[in-house]
Amino acid sequence: MDSSKSTLERLGKIGIVPVVVLENADDAIPLARALMKGGLPCAEVTFRTDAAEESIRRIAKEFPEMLVGAGTVLTTDQADRAIAAGAKFVVAPGLNPKVVKHVLSKNIPMCPGTCTPSDIEAALDLGLNIVKFFPAEPSGGLKMIKALGSAYVNVKFMPTGGINAENIRDYLAYNKIFACGGSWMVKGELIKAGKFDEIERLVREAVEIVKEVRG
Ligand code: 3PG
Repeated sequence: MDSSKSTLERLGKIGIVPVVVLENADDAIPLARALMKGGLPCAEVTFRTDAAEESIRRIAKEFPEMLVGAGTVLTTDQADRAIAAGAKFVVAPGLNPKVVKHVLSKNIPMCPGTCTPSDIEAALDLGLNIVKFFPAEPSGGLKMIKALGSAYVNVKFMPTGGINAENIRDYLAYNKIFACGGSWMVKGELIKAGKFDEIERLVREAVEIVKEVRG
């Protein structure tokens, strides 16, 4: 199996991808440690801050077993920087064919954002059958995913945007949900306040929900 496929399979098994915004790369290791201790060996570090690239570099070095990826990757340049820093997967809010092709050419898995049938067909055209569904709750949530899933039978979804400890059960119970993305357990204010124990607690709670729903 190629490494790109096994990365995705591991993410799918974990079932939750924490979406992290790090303002300060010094928070990267404590955050990654809290995720690991809580039972979530993965993270999507978003390229919304200048600290993203260095944060990915530090996490990839300190926790080589962790699946650290880059989120909000909008350009091929960001993709290159993320991959060079050690990102093992790449996520974007939308589907930019140029960025998708570029990332796939490096044998790194890419999960682009979709929220319409046309987006999904563009993803299929690029050879992808696992897509992010973003922004999930404002775009119709699980009801919309089920409608899309009945038409695109081989597509799996990673809903992100508005997922939390209350509604994640319903998403995870649908067999076309690959994993759920979200920031609820790694909120920026918790990171800024250094509340890594609280993050670990929320992560543990989220992991329990996955076990409960998926067995
Ligand atoms: C984001 O855009 O920040 C991610 O999609 C996460 O969304 P959330 O903060 O609603 O979980």
